[in-house]
Amino acid sequence: MSITLLTEKSGPTISKYLYGQFSEHLGTGIYGGIYVGENSDIPNVHGMRSDVVNALKAIHIPVLRWPGGLFADTYHWQDGIGPKADRKKIVNMNWGKVTEDNAFGTHEYFELLHQLGADAYINGNVGSGTVQEMAEWIEYMTMPGESPMSKLRQQNGQTAPWRVKFFGIGNESWGGGGNMRPEYYADVYRQYRTFVHHYDADKPLYKVACGPNAGDYHWTDTVMKIAGKYLDALSLHYYTIPTDDWSHKGSATDFPEDQWYATIKHAQHMEELVTRHATIMDQYDPEKRASLIVDEWGTWYDVTPGTNPGFLQQQNTLRDAMVAAITLNIFHKHADRVRMANIAQTVNVLQAMLLTDGPNMVKTPTYYVFDMYQQHMDAQQVTGIGDLPAHTDYTASQKDGALTLSLTNYDLTAAAPLTFNVGPGFKQITAATILTAPTMDAHNSFEDPEAIQEAKFTKATLKDGTLQLTLPAKSIITLSLA
Ligand code: AHR
Repeated sequence: MSITLLTEKSGPTISKYLYGQFSEHLGTGIYGGIYVGENSDIPNVHGMRSDVVNALKAIHIPVLRWPGGLFADTYHWQDGIGPKADRKKIVNMNWGKVTEDNAFGTHEYFELLHQLGADAYINGNVGSGTVQEMAEWIEYMTMPGESPMSKLRQQNGQTAPWRVKFFGIGNESWGGGGNMRPEYYADVYRQYRTFVHHYDADKPLYKVACGPNAGDYHWTDTVMKIAGKYLDALSLHYYTIPTDDWSHKGSATDFPEDQWYATIKHAQHMEELVTRHATIMDQYDPEKRASLIVDEWGTWYDVTPGTNPGFLQQQNTLRDAMVAAITLNIFHKHADRVRMANIAQTVNVLQAMLLTDGPNMVKTPTYYVFDMYQQHMDAQQVTGIGDLPAHTDYTASQKDGALTLSLTNYDLTAAAPLTFNVGPGFKQITAATILTAPTMDAHNSFEDPEAIQEAKFTKATLKDGTLQLTLPAKSIITLSLA
């Protein structure tokens, strides 16, 4: 059993934006997890905690979606500008009904992006906002010359306009964003997007329409039919849960073997979802001008016992790392249409990269997958022919003469011998890392922050264009070849 990689054939670019992140005003996802304020004892730069920013910089996050999620359709941006003491205190109705003091607003978001070197993806309020409110937010952020909103921005300390690369028009408009029917939403989308102006022709705004919930193909068909030519992207949301019951999703850490396999199977369902939604989009947009973006994905479990149920806090194990790898592989495979994805959510919420507790921070197994997959960003997809053993998966790409191969074996007990014919052009393995652990529920806690982390892998061989290795049970390996 072997795979021959077609390295002579160049596939579509695997957009770096597939490695996007999502941070919502939800629990400690932003407050405490990213933003601690200038006066905090936790080391920070302009209020952004330095440990978190540095960890995220190391994985080069390309884009950060904000402010929600469901929060976006309750967010009135003017509440979050101006002197902090004067900002309106509101109730976060979706997430724990806690007081939101709006200390993190538009200026703080762009400061965070600046520190991270990431692009902006802002989700506008359709559910409870007006066309004028949305139009004025765009004007506030991006108008270079004189105007009422650019004047206000300048009064608040920001002279130059910011770059808003991606702008979402409503979130989950089929549900918490307004309970709209697709016909109605499609018309509302057309109306709102008319007033989302480009103030700088050289810096166009990429407009994202609310797409389907998981397998709602009728939504995709209807929105594409009515609004397809007015949108740059359609967003898909899909979460992986171990069971089929949203009221008993299962524990993040305490799970039997059959839930390991069920979770993987549910993650693999992403393949069917993107294939079928992309096929519908093909009917209306055969040139693939518009993208399918998956701007919310990841695992969702019962919350960590004892935590606020509205805060969606959960641990993150080797199982989550496997879900991340398998899902990223699917996105790579569909790179011709899927051009952005945003895992939910960066810090402390759902399938996070990082967990914090006061001044402490740990990296999750999912973080290490994002680290190990970095070489795939903006590389050309490489396909292969042949078969692999059951329970294994791979993805390959090429960039700057190097071949990157990421392999997964989600079998809990059996190792998998693998052979790849990569061709005579590749002569050496320049780097190889592995993520695995003795147990399937291995995770990093504040007591044991390095229980699972990536390590060097030295057991692969490359000879006469043939790569051979044995992939241990429940492991993920990335190799670079030159
Ligand atoms: O990511 C958590 C929530 O899941 C988001 O706010 C919402 O869009 C989705 O239902």
